[in-house]
Amino acid sequence: MRSLVVAAWLLLLLPTRFVVAVKEQDFKKCDESAFCRRGRTLAHRAAEHVTSGEKWKSPYSLDASTIVLEDGGSRFTGRVRSSLYPEIKFELDVRVHEDGVVRVRMDEKEGLRKRYDEAASWALLKEPVLSPSSKWSVGKKEVKVVYGEKKDQVEVTVEFEPLVVRMKRNGKDQVVLNGQGLLHMEHFREKVEENVKKLEATDVEMVAAEGEEAQKVIQLPPNAWFEGDTEDGLWQESWRSWTDTKPKGPESLSLDINFPNHGHVYGIPQHATRLDLPTTKGEGAFFDDPYRLYNTDVFEYLASSTTSLYGSIPLIHAHSADSTVAVFVSVASETWIDVAHPTQKSTETHWVSESGILDVFLLPGPAPDQVFSQYAKLTGAVQLPPHWSLGYHQCRWNYVSTNDVRSVQKRFDEEDIPVDVFWLDIEYSEDHKYMIWDKKNFPDPVDMFNDVEALARKMVVIVDPHIKRTHDYPVYKEGQELDLFIRNKHGSEFEGWCWSGSSAWIDFFNPNSWEWYKSLYKFNGRNDGKWSWTESTGAVHIWNDMNEPSIFNGPEITMEKDSIHYGGWEHRDVHNINGMLFVNITSQAVKERTTPYKRPFVLTRSFYAGAQRFGAMWTGDNLGTWEHMAVGIPMVLSNNIAGMSFAGADVGGFFGNPEPEMLTRWYFVGAFSPFFRAHAHIDTKRREPYLLAEPYKSIVRETLRLRYSLLPVWYTAFRESTVTGLPVVRPQYVVLPKNEPGFSIDDQYYVGASGLLVKPITEAGVTETTIYIGEDQVYYDFYSGHAYRGSAKGKNVTVPAPLERGPLLIRGGSILPSRERPRRSSALMKRDPFTLKVALSQSGSASGELYLDDGESYGHREGNFVWREFVAESTKKTVIISTKDLGSKNPDRAVDGVELATYNGGNAFANALNGVRVERIVVLGLKNRPSKVTLGNTDLEFIFEGGVAAVGKKEGVASKLTVKNPGAFITSDWTVVLGL
Ligand code: GLC
Repeated sequence: MRSLVVAAWLLLLLPTRFVVAVKEQDFKKCDESAFCRRGRTLAHRAAEHVTSGEKWKSPYSLDASTIVLEDGGSRFTGRVRSSLYPEIKFELDVRVHEDGVVRVRMDEKEGLRKRYDEAASWALLKEPVLSPSSKWSVGKKEVKVVYGEKKDQVEVTVEFEPLVVRMKRNGKDQVVLNGQGLLHMEHFREKVEENVKKLEATDVEMVAAEGEEAQKVIQLPPNAWFEGDTEDGLWQESWRSWTDTKPKGPESLSLDINFPNHGHVYGIPQHATRLDLPTTKGEGAFFDDPYRLYNTDVFEYLASSTTSLYGSIPLIHAHSADSTVAVFVSVASETWIDVAHPTQKSTETHWVSESGILDVFLLPGPAPDQVFSQYAKLTGAVQLPPHWSLGYHQCRWNYVSTNDVRSVQKRFDEEDIPVDVFWLDIEYSEDHKYMIWDKKNFPDPVDMFNDVEALARKMVVIVDPHIKRTHDYPVYKEGQELDLFIRNKHGSEFEGWCWSGSSAWIDFFNPNSWEWYKSLYKFNGRNDGKWSWTESTGAVHIWNDMNEPSIFNGPEITMEKDSIHYGGWEHRDVHNINGMLFVNITSQAVKERTTPYKRPFVLTRSFYAGAQRFGAMWTGDNLGTWEHMAVGIPMVLSNNIAGMSFAGADVGGFFGNPEPEMLTRWYFVGAFSPFFRAHAHIDTKRREPYLLAEPYKSIVRETLRLRYSLLPVWYTAFRESTVTGLPVVRPQYVVLPKNEPGFSIDDQYYVGASGLLVKPITEAGVTETTIYIGEDQVYYDFYSGHAYRGSAKGKNVTVPAPLERGPLLIRGGSILPSRERPRRSSALMKRDPFTLKVALSQSGSASGELYLDDGESYGHREGNFVWREFVAESTKKTVIISTKDLGSKNPDRAVDGVELATYNGGNAFANALNGVRVERIVVLGLKNRPSKVTLGNTDLEFIFEGGVAAVGKKEGVASKLTVKNPGAFITSDWTVVLGL
């Protein structure tokens, strides 16, 4: 009977497959993946027990007699038992880190085989430091630790029976592991044919009570209430024409992670969906399949789906008005996550992974800022990108020759359209042997690079991970000689198909591959005289694509899971990390090409937690549709809150030919994305901005100029992110974590801490839109200076949104540094003067920051940078605008472990900027025309246009004071006084 119930559940799951689009059929749904099916059915059985009044109890318990306190008491280990398999040994290891993060690890000990336990070693920046002061105490029913300041005291308990881990703050549950009893670590076992049969067959026994007729009784194995009464795909699994042999047998993991007091969850990128994750379970669930994390190359992905895409970050934020916490699950195998809200104010999630140990980090918050810093401490912060990489990138598949690149560059210059980087897609290479030029069309690559560099620009060239299997390709030949390729299940070289036809893949888990692979990038030649990419220069940076890995003839367009990596691990164990290793090594290769080292730029399609240390990502092959333009925004936000701040989507959409209005709007989206690149499929029409007709061309030119004028804001936001882990683009809940109505908003966002609030238009024919202001503050229209008022409860204001002016507000209280001279590339702006826009708050104050360095070296780590704060303060009779140096007061200690030298205001970089002026100060929202404006003893000339004041409640165009050429320099201290 139970099997019938299970079958019924499965039937319920089935219809979902038939309603989704055709493209999705190439990829598995949960019910087509045996371990997911097992995990989800476990959850259904538990729910069924509860509704039928039976008690569902986790069979896992912690054996109190085995608990050992270690590392001065901040860590304990103990044996976990499952009542279903008492002979199996599980070990629990729980630690408190110095910043209050709690790590929970569970592994099978002395089992038949070993689980993969190295996911964290790739994701984490370094081994976390344990707390010197937090000590676990062992009680009768639980182990407990209490830490933190009184106001936000955290208590973590690990209850013995059943095993439940509970993190509380101020007595309130924050995160609960196994509260629903769904924890299950399938142990390693021998394959016993008889067993399989026994479990599949249902034994029927006749039992007759006295005087009664014999009844049929179904004999279920004792573990059936928990694991089900059939063995489902434990040892082998077929899907389409594929058979996954599972030599290790079952080893999946199931865990419920609940947030009983948080009604919103965000993260677990990458999926094309809203930022505030819609439910996948429970009444009225938005999706019917769990979120999947399994790096895959999904052709024409849907704009709203739980389908896994190219990258995976198993980090989830849970948020409410009084608390933010997060959980990072360090697992590299395929993972599915169900999300449900049993009430509006609570969230249940259920995680099922195919293999690996349980390694879960609980990040206590209590607010978004702390969650970001806790996560950055674990996995590192985004690396400070080269400054030029924040400019505009022009890409297409393909610029077809060296002369094509030259003429594209020429056209940009003729039309006065700024651009920093030209890209080459796969067709530059001979037969897709990356790094080998197709000499017919690219006869003079080094000259081409030099021609581009001569105009202060860079190039990015694609290098994919599939290595064409031909011995005239030195990379393949050497890779084979060194025995560095991934193996198939039979132990020989893995072969698959990609752009290059029959290909092999370097196993970057093999440390022997690292130095060798890096040496291929030496454009001055290798010491051993072997082949390296000499037809390249220091101005060339790299694009890593197809690194999920994408394998056209593989199951779900990727590698068979039973392929073998270094150390004997199966591909299934490491799949989601595989792509990150490629970008890790590539970024080191690019950096180490030059002496002294320069900051590398590498774009990756596949990523995992920690990949922010190596490069930028983009959202892959989107469609040129409004829906895709729109969903790109929450996707970029989701990656940002999960650490991958350097993110963007293909401007214009990869597939299709966007109409001019759409393309124009898309440029605005790009101009407000951390990574800004236009890209297009080989079958699309050319669509470089200079090809647009008027008025679109001029509008796009202005949008690009806007991006360039705000580069100081972007670079400053990146600096902050490298130190604090805060995202570069910030959704509403991050900036205003207490403002409930903003928690689900994901179509508008802030740029760093600058106060810029942007809401790109992602629909046709729009002339105005509403922007949500979630605080009692004045916000100014960036272009017109119109003052809008928010409210503490939150308020929608209607703003103009003509094609020429994407909706952009400045939060009252901000000072924005910008550079307004149009230039053809960012490198030419190095000594350009600054404009400071002071947007007074309702209380008449404002502040802002500016960070600058040489933009390409590591000199900033030796203190070669300029980091300044600008402040405006109002008294009754004056507004005082001043600037001070932040660097020397606040030695910049980077989260990524590199301790920066103390800044010295007179450093070489700052000295080189001597004489760079503040050419204009603009103040929005003054009460009245100043009687005079002075800098020291000098009276300054100014223009005052009357209008609405920051103080008060009025809306309308704000007053605007413009001081031209105040005689102030960007690197020096000065004070400008406005006498009112
Ligand atoms: C993949 C990439 C795309 C690229 C193409 C050819 O589809 O996602 O950006 O243009 O491969 O290299």
